[in-house]
Amino acid sequence: MTNVKSLRGRDFITLMDYTTDEIKYLLSLSRDLKSRYYQGERYNDILRGGKTLLMIFEKPSTRTRVSLDVAATQLGMHVIYSNPQELQLGRGETIADTARVVDRFVDAIAARVYKHESLIEMAKYAVVPVINALSDKEHPLQVLADALTLWEVKGRLDGIKLAFVGDGDNNMAHSLMIIGGAKLGWEVRIISPRKYWPSKFAESLTEDARRTGGANIIISDNIEDVRGVDAVYTDVWVSMGMEAEAEERRKVFRPYQVNAELMRKAGPQAVFMHCLPA
Ligand code: NVA
Repeated sequence: MTNVKSLRGRDFITLMDYTTDEIKYLLSLSRDLKSRYYQGERYNDILRGGKTLLMIFEKPSTRTRVSLDVAATQLGMHVIYSNPQELQLGRGETIADTARVVDRFVDAIAARVYKHESLIEMAKYAVVPVINALSDKEHPLQVLADALTLWEVKGRLDGIKLAFVGDGDNNMAHSLMIIGGAKLGWEVRIISPRKYWPSKFAESLTEDARRTGGANIIISDNIEDVRGVDAVYTDVWVSMGMEAEAEERRKVFRPYQVNAELMRKAGPQAVFMHCLPA
């Protein structure tokens, strides 16, 4: 049975490593803690005992950084925020050495990295859990929060239809395909110019998802396919680390802009979601 104990001590690098039950458990727990907090309850004794979260962010962050810090503080943890320049990583110390050293002091590491492989390397050498706070491949914390929002707004977690419009092969599109399409059984429509179709990712996902209930993912370049969805989701066209392609991307993605006309096509039942920065 899924409970806090069965999740304790595990890395959180990709939602592929979590079962549907575990994801639902995490969402229920978040919903419960959120509602208790807004009713005035304080629970900063949950992680009492001087536990420390180290955040290492290679890229800028507003929402993930602040919400992680606030959440850890509300649970009773101490938080240290740093970037590679402030650590010896910036002077060439390896990820492996950094992980081996800091895990003697801290209880968890949350990292935002340019390359997903850096997280895998960190997790290989750190005994404490490593949390993905965004990589080029996935952004699991964001989509977990998005699933909670959809549950609250739509009143259900099942049978959601979501259209992601824009860069179909970025971290957000990937994580939405995992949580929605492969794990929660949603219909996830990726609507994107062909050059940015997540074909390889979707293929690998479908293979893995066979074991977890099957992926329900539709890939299209036709914006008319937003019709009838519960949610239209978009993201920046130029993700962090892709600045060199900015000019080309702005041209290619222009027809995939989410605006009032596109939302009209989707229908009055559709909510608009994004992870920003705009
Ligand atoms: N795809 C975006 C997400 C930002 C939250 C990026 O990686 O820059």
